[in-house]
Amino acid sequence: MEAKIVAITGTYKGLGAALSMLLAKKGYKLVLGGRNKAELEKFTTEIKKFSDAAAVVMDVRKKKECEHFVVAAIKKFGRLDLLINNAGIWKSASFEEVTEADLQEMFETNLFGPIYTTQAAVSIMKKQGSGHILNIGSTSAVDYKSSHVAYGASKAALVGFTGCLRTELEGTGIRVSVFSPGGMKTELFRVKPERMKEDFMDPAFVAEKIVEHIEHPTDEWHVVLRRPQKK
Ligand SMILES: NC(=O)c1ccc[n+]([C@@H]2O[C@H](COP(=O)([O-])OP(=O)(O)OC[C@H]3O[C@@H](n4cnc5c(N)ncnc54)[C@H](OP(=O)(O)O)[C@@H]3O)[C@@H](O)[C@H]2O)c1
Repeated sequence: MEAKIVAITGTYKGLGAALSMLLAKKGYKLVLGGRNKAELEKFTTEIKKFSDAAAVVMDVRKKKECEHFVVAAIKKFGRLDLLINNAGIWKSASFEEVTEADLQEMFETNLFGPIYTTQAAVSIMKKQGSGHILNIGSTSAVDYKSSHVAYGASKAALVGFTGCLRTELEGTGIRVSVFSPGGMKTELFRVKPERMKEDFMDPAFVAEKIVEHIEHPTDEWHVVLRRPQKK
């Protein structure tokens, strides 16, 4: 079988890095998006030890850069089978304290970015008659935590976007889904891993669950993976 082509944002650390590495080891070919050129190039060199890959410096808040990122997959590999909208940011603030700048940054990164990349990918996937758009959501979209108004709302909107798009693309051959993990040991919260709650998940474990979701499609279009409950 021909290798599948994946474009993924937010690649060189956290869940994006774990997922990219796992996909590369499984033979997928990757277009890696990231906004820090040096970190992206270093990570791409690591990925290339396992599979073919191209690096695209991009900020998901910029529509033109999102388009360029998706087109890079076609230029390099001639097709795009899977788009993973993984890049995201988190900031905590109570409703009364949340700033306009933080609201804007979270919605631009967690919602508008995935919409921009998806707009570019859908036109390509429609011509192919196949493809998969996979958004990385969060349990914050469904568990309604305190001080999560901006982050939780941006991820809930991402889930809503996914559901609407899925309905709109029925019959095109394009699969649309969202995978919402609970807390993971990454730099998202700008807290050292040793200071994080013990039951936060290893991103490598979550990456395995996401690859299962990619490789074994079911009718479940919104997968929620919560942290294991304390006994
Ligand atoms: N960690 C958790 O507990 C958790 C739980 C549920 C869902 N998630 C979701 O999982 C995804 C990955 O997060 P993570 O935990 O792996 O966090 P992370 O380690 O902070 O990684 C986030 C990645 O997104 C990139 N990114 C942020 N803003 C960007 C922008 N404007 N343009 C391009 N790239 C950008 C970051 O790049 P820079 O280094 O350049 O900022 C980084 O590579 C996010 O969507 C997050 O919301 C995380």
